Amino acid sequence: MSARPATTAPAPAAATGSSAVLDAAGLSFAYARSGAGFGEVSLAIGRREIVCLLGGSGCGKSTLLRVLAGLEAPAAGTVRFLGQPLARPHPRSALVFQQASLLPWLNVFDNAGFGLDFKHQPAADAAARKARVREALAAVGLAAHERAWPAELSGGQAQRVALARALAREPELLFADEPFSALDAITRAEMQALLVDVVRRWHAAVLLVTHDIDEAILVADRILLMAGRPGRIEREWTVGIPHPRDAHAEAVTALRLNILSALREASATGVPPSPTPDEEPST
Ligand SMILES: Nc1ncnc2c1ncn2[C@@H]1O[C@H](COP(=O)(O)OP(=O)(O)OP(=O)(O)O)[C@@H](O)[C@H]1O
Ligand SMILES: [Mg+2]
Repeated sequence: MSARPATTAPAPAAATGSSAVLDAAGLSFAYARSGAGFGEVSLAIGRREIVCLLGGSGCGKSTLLRVLAGLEAPAAGTVRFLGQPLARPHPRSALVFQQASLLPWLNVFDNAGFGLDFKHQPAADAAARKARVREALAAVGLAAHERAWPAELSGGQAQRVALARALAREPELLFADEPFSALDAITRAEMQALLVDVVRRWHAAVLLVTHDIDEAILVADRILLMAGRPGRIEREWTVGIPHPRDAHAEAVTALRLNILSALREASATGVPPSPTPDEEPST
């Protein structure tokens, strides 16, 4: 059977208005030294929405993520987080990168709680925060490893700690920049499934930067394709395939081919083709 796998819409990424956890309009950025960065970008991320940002190397995905997270100021445009202008990373956001970046002198529990600042909290708050860390570590399957040291962990376990650290902040929005790209294929697939599971349980939205089309299709509610120099968001697909998604399902294969051809076109011309009429979203 051929359920409609996805809908596509022309750029810019559709805004979800007041239900958005993050709303960016007219953003651009250029590094002072190189002039590289990204072109005008407007996008919104809805509450609990998983959005994947795909695109060729160097088009500005990580830079865009850093601006949206409040780590860099845009040259133009605005970012609003829960309706408020964002000037620095929001306490209800969290970041996960390709490297887990654990502190080697802290055990798993303290790494996962790092940044929650137990020391300066009243005892009751400290207990509640400890409970949050325990819950996050249990959710990523590391309850039995609280006392382990980073040097004793596999790469996948270290990324689980990084994910637990993010969850312990009880984020409204998790920013993740290629968090699984250093992992082997099986661990990676496990982490993709875990990510979808835990962010649903934590009611968090996600912006996931990835090079991997399959990763985007398996986890995303919406996929944005960034292309050009400087990069812009040129295409968007809403993925309506129910979870858990099967990498070999017909709907997944159809969407993969569609995205691949847009990526190929973008790398040849800088801009992917417009959607054909049968790819337009149904109304
Ligand atoms: N600190 C910096 N100073 C100057 N230029 C930079 C800096 N960081 C990145 N750039 C340049 O900005 C552009 C966008 O970089 P960015 O890292 O955002 O790309 P990307 O899409 O994330 O690439 P990749 O997929 O390889 O991670 C690139 O041309 C890069 O060389
Ligand atoms: Mg990058």
